[in-house]
Amino acid sequence: MFENGPADLFNSAQLGYVIIESNHLDRWLQLGKDAIGLHAEYLSEDILSFRIDWHVRRFLIRKGDAEDFTVLGFQIKDENSLKKILEKLKERKVEVRRGSGIEASLRGIEAFWEFSGPKGLKIEIFTNPILTETPLNMLSKGFVTEQFGMGHVAIVSKQPERLIKFWKEIFGARVSDQIEQKMSGVILDITFLRMNPRHHSIAIAATRGLRMDPLSTKIQHLNIEVKNLEDMTQAYRRCKELGFEIAHGIGQHPNDLELSFYIVTPSGFELEIGWNPISVSEIQWKQNKYKQISAWGHEPEISTALSRLNEFRRGVFSLFRSEYIPF
Ligand SMILES: [Fe+2]
Repeated sequence: MFENGPADLFNSAQLGYVIIESNHLDRWLQLGKDAIGLHAEYLSEDILSFRIDWHVRRFLIRKGDAEDFTVLGFQIKDENSLKKILEKLKERKVEVRRGSGIEASLRGIEAFWEFSGPKGLKIEIFTNPILTETPLNMLSKGFVTEQFGMGHVAIVSKQPERLIKFWKEIFGARVSDQIEQKMSGVILDITFLRMNPRHHSIAIAATRGLRMDPLSTKIQHLNIEVKNLEDMTQAYRRCKELGFEIAHGIGQHPNDLELSFYIVTPSGFELEIGWNPISVSEIQWKQNKYKQISAWGHEPEISTALSRLNEFRRGVFSLFRSEYIPF
């Protein structure tokens, strides 16, 4: 479980952008701009975008019924690495499509390739983001991106071994550590995968024994990282003031030591706002296994009885549903 991906592709990829489909663009605008403090812009009546740094796009929220992530965009270091990734996909007989110029400009990139990834989520890969010198107009003072990418995502899977293999083989991912967490009598195993110095770009959670996926969305949460502690605490305060549900209050994870809280987004999945996680130095890193997801805090702040019942119902139904993994 702990072996690394191919050495040649490690440190080639980082989370570049996300595309979400929702029918609640105005509530998303309120969450992104007024609560979290992102730079917001309507590109048209049906497309909202957020910036957090010099990239012209980091979030695209398009009007539609999915209420979910539809795309994860990964920025690839250079043409050579992109070529290697495309070769690996070809070896694995994964069908790849070249995106059009119009699609690329909407995403704020020069060109991209796309394929169907885990759980049917589209994965898009690109090398050249379009940058802007237009200053950011946002409440937050700034976000940590650069060589770390825009953040991380957590995915619940019924086939975690295959999913981990996918990220290792295609993106050179390495396991940073693992956490097991007991929740309402079920044990959840979470594996944290890094693709670059960010402690993890992907986390994969699976129920031990009978594999269930109680979520209605393909991603459990997306994390972005603020530069200053105050930006996290002020975002927490604004989320409460504006009536956003806090899934988990402020707390700290034992592995990356990030201080964070989780909000329920208008599309149902969670957004984690974090501060000050450790980054991984490849020479010194030791993989650990932890027994709890939070060292302290992260207490649930929403009434959980009904959502637990719904999760249980979806969990049972998920036993009979197949989960797409490219290979
Ligand atoms: Fe997270």
